[in-house]
Amino acid sequence: MKMPDAEKLLNIGIALSADSDSDHLLRIILDTAMELTECDGGTLYTLKNKTLEFHIMVTLSQNIDRGGNGEIIDLPSVPLLKENVCAKSAIEKSIINVSDVYNDPRFDFSGPRKYDKMTGYRTVSMLVVPMTDDKDEIIGVLQLINAKDENGNIVSFPKECEQVIRSLASQAAIRLTNLNYSHETMKLLESFIQVTSMAIDARTPYNSNHTHNMARYGKKFLKWLRDTKHLLRMTEEGEKEFIMTIWLHDIGKLLIPIDIMNKATRLGHMEHNVFQRLRIIKILNQLNFAKKEITREKFEKNILLIESAHGIIKKVNSVEFLTEELLKKIGEIRKRTFKDENGRTVSWLTEDEYEALTIRKGTLTKNERRIMEEHVVMTARILSQMTFGRGYKNVPGWASAHHEYLDGTGYPMHIKAEGIPYQVRLLTILDIFDALTARDRPYKKPMSVERAFEVLMNMADEGCLDKELIILFKESEAWKVGNKNEI
Ligand SMILES: [Fe+2]
Ligand SMILES: [Fe+2]
Repeated sequence: MKMPDAEKLLNIGIALSADSDSDHLLRIILDTAMELTECDGGTLYTLKNKTLEFHIMVTLSQNIDRGGNGEIIDLPSVPLLKENVCAKSAIEKSIINVSDVYNDPRFDFSGPRKYDKMTGYRTVSMLVVPMTDDKDEIIGVLQLINAKDENGNIVSFPKECEQVIRSLASQAAIRLTNLNYSHETMKLLESFIQVTSMAIDARTPYNSNHTHNMARYGKKFLKWLRDTKHLLRMTEEGEKEFIMTIWLHDIGKLLIPIDIMNKATRLGHMEHNVFQRLRIIKILNQLNFAKKEITREKFEKNILLIESAHGIIKKVNSVEFLTEELLKKIGEIRKRTFKDENGRTVSWLTEDEYEALTIRKGTLTKNERRIMEEHVVMTARILSQMTFGRGYKNVPGWASAHHEYLDGTGYPMHIKAEGIPYQVRLLTILDIFDALTARDRPYKKPMSVERAFEVLMNMADEGCLDKELIILFKESEAWKVGNKNEI
């Protein structure tokens, strides 16, 4: 074995610390250990459920190279029994150096013998090194087979290589453990964020799948960009950052009053008062007639007016778009008055009720809409209180801009195209697409996908949205309804 020089060790250290793929790290360990000891074969076992599982298996002279890329090696795991050399190394955390496997009575080598018989191989020397992490816990075992001298003859593993391989294995083990910690922390964070967004969606039955749907469309679209090798495809980190933004984009809705979020009709909570007042007007009309203060003709005319107003208000309260005709009729009702029990002249509709009933589209008044739109400001405020690591630094900015339009007519910052990255443009498109096609909005029926794309394209023509992204999203078919749970 050639002792590795400082530069080589340094390079190995750098490679181990730079890699964030566990499988790839294990591969580096095995390849480097084999290269350093100039041996012919190596197996890397990882400890799982108290057994050693085959993770990677390499025999150069037989062109065998299995596992390591998620491929499962279909060989039975090694139970932690001391008769087995790898298990003993793991249990005792000790290096075991065997010069001649077939003539070493210390261990049961029936496994390698059986394997040799099947493959025609001859296992001679073996070096087994435990992989321990920073807490001195075993995470796996490295087994090297058949060291060679400069002439290619099989020799024993020299004593001096034991510590070098052990230090390599431990360095890698620590890196792997750290990687696992960070994966676990990330998973915890991601699941926490998903639960939070489920809580946002669950606040209102009228929006109950919004974030979930967007995450589904987003993931499918990003996969499509990847699969088609599109110029706009994102890196793995970029994708994670984008999906995290989807999950958090409406977090500000947690602070929006529930009666605004759930407002299913124009009048909302005022509905009761309006119809109650019409009932009183009707009773007062009857009393006036009974007291002979009005004629029968006037009485009957009033009844017709009240009943017609009731019907019109009922219709206007929940109709999707308000026509000019309905608007005019509401204007006429607003002009009508009656004398209350104190003799005061009172309008049939209050100013607020009239404002609500004359909302052209949707169910929110100007003020309610302003409060609703505040949710992006709240999103920005909440996310500014959170610490986003390197890979997620764009999340607060992207999330807070999901209602901005390219021509500056969006809100709340009125940013224009130059200041809106394509990730935000995409987020806005996904957001509007889901709003249009949602099946659970209180004030409107779901729009067909075709019509929704027409609306999106109109908005692009008006300068609000990114046309190319809409075309790509349509082409990707990422919007196709699949399994609701497929994220
Ligand atoms: Fe939003
Ligand atoms: Fe949204």
